[in-house]
Amino acid sequence: MRILLTGGTGLIGRALCRFWIARGHEVLVWSRQSARVPALCSGAQGIADLAALGKAEVFDAVVNLAGAPIADARWTAARRETLWNSRVLLTRRLVDWMLQLQRPPAALLSGSAVGWWGDAGERELDETSAAGVPDFGSTLCAAWEAEALRAREAGVRVLLLRTAAVLAADGGMLQRLLPPFRLGLGARLGSGQQWMPWIHIDDMVACIDFLLQSADGAGVFAACAPQPVRNAEFTQALARAVHRPALLAVPAWALRLALGEMAVLLLGSQRLQPVRTLQAGYRYRYPELDGALAQLLRR
Ligand SMILES: NC(=O)c1ccc[n+]([C@@H]2O[C@H](COP(=O)([O-])OP(=O)(O)OC[C@H]3O[C@@H](n4cnc5c(N)ncnc54)[C@H](OP(=O)(O)O)[C@@H]3O)[C@@H](O)[C@H]2O)c1
Repeated sequence: MRILLTGGTGLIGRALCRFWIARGHEVLVWSRQSARVPALCSGAQGIADLAALGKAEVFDAVVNLAGAPIADARWTAARRETLWNSRVLLTRRLVDWMLQLQRPPAALLSGSAVGWWGDAGERELDETSAAGVPDFGSTLCAAWEAEALRAREAGVRVLLLRTAAVLAADGGMLQRLLPPFRLGLGARLGSGQQWMPWIHIDDMVACIDFLLQSADGAGVFAACAPQPVRNAEFTQALARAVHRPALLAVPAWALRLALGEMAVLLLGSQRLQPVRTLQAGYRYRYPELDGALAQLLRR
């Protein structure tokens, strides 16, 4: 396949590049740091400006994962603008470019997040479920998805991947949690009863590849393991994996005070099953949390 990727220098993107290039695919990464792409992305080619690609370029697929990190800074007005522009406006530019190609790609797989559902409490969710309590994150995901769906105007198959917290050895949530957990300072968040979907990085990569290589299938797919856990269970599983106790709890009010609306990322609940992803035929390598954590901590 010949693939154009945004967000290729990120946690998921780098792993995807490694996977695809090892299998002989050609990957081009549209990036703000295009000169660094070959080194960061296993030899993929960096593209600084889509306009540099002619209208006759042919790609089998476009994968859109760019976006400023959602949990790195409080959602001030300036930060919201950065989060919005790096997803919604960037996707608009990407799709505008796709629409003017002589031969648009067969598929666009565009990122989104389980935050699309906002806080859905105890309700059992699958890809067809309605959203919960709206917040900035869910509004952002909805607008991001709407931009991607415009590619259907050119007959492109659009897949929207609502992604859970990605567990990886070299970045993301786990890298932040491991230092305190290794000191025995692991803590559940709020009541710990909120459902917390997650996915192993290898499943994330293999699932993207599987969905793109499947000839049909469009619309929303959940990228999360089929066994969601509550935050309290996640806390105990990670503590077990590093052989330390986790006896602490951070009160919800303290998280809201410290993080403002962004606290929804930690306190919001999505009891999500990847029903459509499983129906499409994807088989998870790491369906349960203890096995996923053990494998990642061995790496
Ligand atoms: N990791 C997770 O747990 C998780 C969970 C749910 C959803 N997601 C979504 O999946 C996508 C990929 O996740 P990831 O963890 O791989 O992301 P990441 O490591 O934070 O990387 C995302 C990429 O987005 C680009 N980017 C960052 N800030 C930008 C800005 N201000 N303007 C334009 N581009 C910017 C960067 O590419 P360049 O520097 O090359 O331009 C960066 O490599 C993200 O959109 C994220 O929201 C991730």
